[in-house]
Amino acid sequence: MEEKTIQPKKRIFSGIQPTGVFTLGNYIGAVRNWGKLQEDYECIYCIVDLHAITVMQDPAILRANTMRAYALMLACGIDPQKSVAFVQSRNPAHAELSWVLSCSTMFGELNRMTQFKDKSARHADNINAGLFTYPVLMAADILAYNADLVPIGADQKQHLELARNVAIRFNQRFGETFVVPEPYMPETGARLMSLQDPTKKMSKSDENANGCVYILDDKDTILRKFRRAVTDSESEVCYREGKEGINNLMTIYSCVTGKTLDEITTEFAGKGYGDFKTAVGEAVADHLEPVQTAYARLMEDKAYLNACIDTGSEQAFRLTGKLMSKVYRRVGFIDRK
Ligand code: TYM
Repeated sequence: MEEKTIQPKKRIFSGIQPTGVFTLGNYIGAVRNWGKLQEDYECIYCIVDLHAITVMQDPAILRANTMRAYALMLACGIDPQKSVAFVQSRNPAHAELSWVLSCSTMFGELNRMTQFKDKSARHADNINAGLFTYPVLMAADILAYNADLVPIGADQKQHLELARNVAIRFNQRFGETFVVPEPYMPETGARLMSLQDPTKKMSKSDENANGCVYILDDKDTILRKFRRAVTDSESEVCYREGKEGINNLMTIYSCVTGKTLDEITTEFAGKGYGDFKTAVGEAVADHLEPVQTAYARLMEDKAYLNACIDTGSEQAFRLTGKLMSKVYRRVGFIDRK
C-alpha cells in the first residue's frame, strides 16, 4: 500500500489594534478572511494592545476596548476552539523578541515607513520611540510563531516587507531561525477607501465621520453614510479609472454580495447613483447584522470572554517558548531554565 505523507498545516498569524470598533475596511480587508482560513490553516489571531499604546490611550478605555475588540473578533467568525485567539500583552515573547529584533533592524529602514510618517504628522505632540519601532514589534508578533502567511490589508504590506527583511538578516547572521512570512491579501477589498474622500483609505482617524463605516453602526447610520458617499458627476455605475468613489462602492458591494464587477454594472444599468448607493448600504447592513447579533450576545458573557482570553493566551505563550529559547541561545544569552 502506498504510504501517504500528511503535510502539516501552514501557519497563519494576524493582529488588529483595540482602538475602537472595527471599520468596514478592517473587516473586509482582513478580519473576515481570518475566519475563512481557520479550516485549512493553523491560525493564531491577536488583539495587539502593545501596539495601541504608541498613541495616547486612556488606560480604562484601552482595557474596555481590548475586551470589545476580542468579542468583535469572535463575532466576525474566529472560533477560539479552532484558532488561537489571544491578547498580545499576555504573551511576553512579543516584547522580548521585539528587543532582540530591533538590534537587527536599521534606523534607515524604520525611517522609510509611511505609516510612521503619517502617524507622526497626526500626533505631532507625541512622536515617541514606540511609534518609530512599531514595525519591529509587528515583525516580532509574526516571527515569534514562525508564521507562513499573514492576512492583512494593503496598508500593512510595507510593514510585512520589513518583517521579511529582518527575518532574512537575522537568519543570515545567526543561522536559520525564522520562517520568512508571506502577505495574504484579498483580491478584492484589500484597500477600502473613505466614503467622503475616495483617494484616502477608510480609517478610524478620518476627520469626517461619514467617511468611515463601523461594523457596529446601525442600519440607518449605514444607509445614511452610503447615501452621502462622494462619487462623480456622471451617472453610470461602472469600474473605471477616474471614478474612485464608484469603484470603491462597487468593491464594497462585490465583497458583501459575492457579485462580480460586471454583474454589478449590468444590475445597475440605466439606474442612477442614488439607487446604487441605497443598494450598497442595504447589502452592507444585511451582511453585518449577524456579526452585530453575535457581538451583543458575547458581550453579555464576560466570564466566557475572559476564559477564552486566558486559554488563548496560554496557548500562545506555549507556542513561542521553544523558539524564544532558540533565539536567546543564538544571540549568545545564557540558557534560560
Ligand atoms: P490595524 O489594526 O490598523 O488594522 C487591522 C487590519 O485591517 C486592515 N485594514 C484595511 N483593509 C482594507 N481597507 C482598509 N481601509 C483597511 N484599514 C485597515 C489592515 O491592513 C490590517 O490587516 N499593525 C497592524 C496590526 C498588527 C499586525 C501584526 C497585523 C500588529 N501586529 C502582525 C498582522 C500581523 C495594524 O495596525 O492593523
